[in-house]
Amino acid sequence: MSERETRVISDEEMNRQGEYILKLRERFSAIGRQPAAFVETYGCQQNSSDSERIKGMLSDMGFGFCDKPKDADLILYNTCAVRENAELRVFGNLGALKIIKRKRPEVIIAVCGCMMQQEHIAKRIKEKYRHVDLVFGTHALYRFPQLLDKVVSGGRVFDTENESGAVYENINSRRDPIPLAKVPIMYGCNNFCTYCIVPYVRGRERSRSAESILAEVRDVAEQGYKEVMLLGQNVNSYGNDKDSEMSFAQLLREVCRVDGIERVRFMTSHPKDISDEVIAAMAEEDKICKQLHLPVQSGSDRILKLMNRRYTREKYLETVKKVREAMPDIVLTTDIIVGFPGETNEDFEETLSILREVEYDTIFSFIYSKRVGTPAADMEDCLTDEEKHMNFDRMLEVQNEISKRKNMAYEGTVQTVLVEGASKTSEETLTGRTEGGKVVNFAGDRSLVGEMVDVKITSAQTWSLFGEIVYQENALR
Ligand code: 5AD
Ligand code: SF4
Repeated sequence: MSERETRVISDEEMNRQGEYILKLRERFSAIGRQPAAFVETYGCQQNSSDSERIKGMLSDMGFGFCDKPKDADLILYNTCAVRENAELRVFGNLGALKIIKRKRPEVIIAVCGCMMQQEHIAKRIKEKYRHVDLVFGTHALYRFPQLLDKVVSGGRVFDTENESGAVYENINSRRDPIPLAKVPIMYGCNNFCTYCIVPYVRGRERSRSAESILAEVRDVAEQGYKEVMLLGQNVNSYGNDKDSEMSFAQLLREVCRVDGIERVRFMTSHPKDISDEVIAAMAEEDKICKQLHLPVQSGSDRILKLMNRRYTREKYLETVKKVREAMPDIVLTTDIIVGFPGETNEDFEETLSILREVEYDTIFSFIYSKRVGTPAADMEDCLTDEEKHMNFDRMLEVQNEISKRKNMAYEGTVQTVLVEGASKTSEETLTGRTEGGKVVNFAGDRSLVGEMVDVKITSAQTWSLFGEIVYQENALR
């Protein structure tokens, strides 16, 4: 896409949305108590970043946030369309809200995100989920205040148009707590992998300006965030849609120059596009975490071709070799799809063999899910569901053994951990991540959340490490 087609939403338009926010703030203040919103997010980091923006707008309207739909004045689901099971959960949850709406008709029920950019889904909600007041797609996110104003004035509102070129700036985010900040650098995807719905629901690739990305990174650093995660469906093509923009490698280096930011990560890299400059930046910049998510999807050239991935197994392995030569300790992770249409047991064996060859630290694996409107939806299946599930289980067995072995190599080492919070299971246990992104649990005081601490690894499991603090610079503060 050329620069002309990327449309930055103008300041006037954003100011107009700001006026709706003020109007709604006044309107909701009439309830006589703080209004509460329940926001649930499905899917990827990009979606949770979008939810942070929506929550920012709701905060500006005076909303607080609650944990249960039954306590809310506004209920919003930000949905994911990548696989069918996430969609089924949304429909299940929406169905259950009928009772709440019957008891309290004034509750506003809203659904947004990728699912809503699909015509058949929006239609189904319009016709069968009549208790839903507001439906809007990913392209309409910035005008949520205007849409909500319409709902408050009476009637159902649907805004699921596809305006692929829009980039919006200057929306306040209500972020997850310190220390990790998500910063989107681009929206959309141009790759059209044949199984994937993303290019249809998020539109073509468009990059934010480096200037506004860096301003956001400086802002989060000032707020005390120590780690940024730069987000895009394919970060390696950052700037390709604009003649004037810096490359992703340059952007990475600029982000590293921001004071206060100690760790930089990014997601996701398409293996066909990762450049030598990006690998060099990763190796040279101390702040860039030595971790790379490089989705391979399949180990079979025949399937990679059917998937339109535009690399071969050999080319992919060359990239892995290059990355490991530059950073011997790199933590590598990947995505795998099992049961893609036409995949035979022989193809699947090739996937197992690439897992054994690369030895990823972790894999994210999925059984293929048919998506309406994608080319793969019309391709013939070879294996039965049962065979696909058997292959899937076999793959996990192979990978779990590798993951456990890789984690055990950390036993006895000292790792610098950025503390993210108390562990889910116990108040006295802290949880954080190593530079490679490995989860570490250890005993410690909550005051350490947001700090970097050195932890000696005492034991390892398949999914996480356990350790003890050995040296702690801020102990006396
Ligand atoms: N079915 C199963 N998995 C999918 N993914 C994307 N689309 C599908 C689909 N239709 C997986 C890919 C991608 C990850 C985010 O989700 O592995 O990398
Ligand atoms: Fe989907 Fe492929 Fe784009 Fe990733 S690169 S979002 S898998 S189309």
